[in-house]
Amino acid sequence: MSGDLKWNKIFGAALGTAFVILVVQQASGLIYHSEPPEKMGYFVDAPDETAGAEQAELPPDWGTVLPAADLAAGEAAFARCQACHDGHQGGADKIGPNLYGVIGGPVEHRPGFAYSDAMTKHKAEVPTWTYDAVNAFITAPARYIPGTKMSFAGIRDTQTRINLIAWLRTQGSTGYAIPAPDPSRQPGAAAPAGAPSEGGEPAVTEGAAATESAGTSPAAAAPDAVQATPAAPPAATSAAPPNH
Ligand code: HEC
Repeated sequence: MSGDLKWNKIFGAALGTAFVILVVQQASGLIYHSEPPEKMGYFVDAPDETAGAEQAELPPDWGTVLPAADLAAGEAAFARCQACHDGHQGGADKIGPNLYGVIGGPVEHRPGFAYSDAMTKHKAEVPTWTYDAVNAFITAPARYIPGTKMSFAGIRDTQTRINLIAWLRTQGSTGYAIPAPDPSRQPGAAAPAGAPSEGGEPAVTEGAAATESAGTSPAAAAPDAVQATPAAPPAATSAAPPNH
């Protein structure tokens, strides 16, 4: 019995060792396999380009994104504004104006607040805090309204801004309608509806045209070549040496 136990222990120890070796091999395998990510260093640069492209992107389709927004996340994101803004009804102006009802409201919606000249100038150009305008402003305040006294770097993440705007809308702006979703920007509807008609029909037309030209051009080219051979100098030149 004691011999059996001994062998059990030895066998167990051997198994354990084998297991450890396997684990180490796996781990080193992972380390070796972590080489490919080094190649992906190329892709590390990609986010910069994406960020650049994102600025040129269309604004969100509010009719689609607002009903789907995460209000709790939006309220949490408002923590970044709270140092300067109260969002509640009747709340005081702080460093920045109270924001209750600002979505869809007039620019400079708090008459008692000392806005910057830059904001007053902006108001003359874009009088309403539309979804697009608020979105552009909080993306990069100083870029959207150069000279604004809202010293805030901005929120880069589009979904965070969407959530925040959706939540801010619940603070006194629910009367400001959410537009209908833009049918052309529905990922499900637009692509299949647009793609076959846009991609399919021209493809057929082009295909037909290509087939036609492929069919006609050899036929047309051959007589031309035949006719051109006596008349055109290049053809005559190429035909000349054998003749001479
Ligand atoms: C550092 C303080 C500060 C922070 C942080 C800040 N703001 Fe402001 N905000 C201001 C000031 C100051 C103004 C007035 C700007 C002006 O007059 O140029 C302003 C103006 C605004 C306005 C225009 C209000 C109106 O009546 O026209 C909106 C909208 C706004 N902020 C939204 C936000 C949101 C949303 C956040 C958080 C993502 C935020 N702000 C963060 C200080 C701040």
